[in-house]
Amino acid sequence: MNGSNIADYVRGVEGWLFDGEARLLFELARQASSAGVIVEIGSWKGKSTICLATGSREGPRVKVYAIDPHIGSEEHHGASGRVWTFDEFKANIKRAGVEDEVVPLVKMSTDAARDFNLPVSLLFIDGAHDFDSVKADFEAWFPKVINGGVVAFHDTTGWEGPRRLVRTALFRNPRVEAVGFRWSITYGRKTESASLVARWVKRVKMLVKWVYDPTLNFLTRPGVKRMLRTILGRPASA
Ligand SMILES: C[S@@+](CC[C@H](N)C(=O)[O-])C[C@H]1O[C@@H](n2cnc3c(N)ncnc32)[C@H](O)[C@@H]1O
Repeated sequence: MNGSNIADYVRGVEGWLFDGEARLLFELARQASSAGVIVEIGSWKGKSTICLATGSREGPRVKVYAIDPHIGSEEHHGASGRVWTFDEFKANIKRAGVEDEVVPLVKMSTDAARDFNLPVSLLFIDGAHDFDSVKADFEAWFPKVINGGVVAFHDTTGWEGPRRLVRTALFRNPRVEAVGFRWSITYGRKTESASLVARWVKRVKMLVKWVYDPTLNFLTRPGVKRMLRTILGRPASA
C-alpha cells in the first residue's frame, strides 16, 4: 500500500473523504512520530481510520485509537433518529486488514480524554461539526499532543464550526506552526513556541484560505463537479 493507491483501497467504504484527503491522512500517519500514538475523533464506518492505520503501518507502526460513540452526530439523525455504525466499522476495519493497528474506543471524545494518558503524535478531528463540540474535542486533546506532533481537522471549508475553530486553534495559536490545507483538511504542527516568521507565514496562509474556502465549496458542488468532469475529461474528485 502507498499514498497513491489508498483512495482506491477505501473507495467501497461509506464516508466523506475526497481522494486527496485519503492520501493526505495516509501521508500524515506515515510521517507521524513513533513517540506518540494516533488518535482519531469521529470514525463513522472507518474510511479515515483505514487511511490512518495503513499509513501508520508504512511508517511509525503505532496504534490508531479510533474514538466514536457510533451513534452519529446531529447531522446524521434523519427521520428515524437512530444510528449505529459500530458493526459496519468493525467489518470494514477487518476487511481492510488493519484490525491489529486499530483500537476502537466507543465513547464521546471528551469522556475518552479523561483517562487517556498516552502521548499523541497525530490527532485527527472529525467528530460533531458544531462549533462548541469541535472546540471541546480540540481542548480535551490538544494538551496530549507532543511537540512536533500534528493536529488535523476535517471539513474546515464548508462547515462553520471547524472552519471558525481552525482560525484560533491553528492559524492564531502560538503553539502551532507549519499550517497547511488540502481539500477540506487543515493541519498544523505543535511546537513550544512558533517563531515570529512562522506566525507571519500563518497569517498570510489564513488570508489565502479565506479565498480558498468559498472557491472549493463552489468547485465541489455536484453540478459544477459534473461540468468540470465533462470539460476536463477526468474525475474531479482527485
Ligand atoms: C463526519 S463523521 C466521521 C467520518 C469519518 N472520519 C470518515 O472520514 O469516514 C462524524 C462522526 O463523529 C462521531 N461523533 C460525534 N460526536 C462525537 C464525539 N463527541 N466524540 C467522538 N465522535 C463523535 C459521530 O458518531 C460520527 O460517526
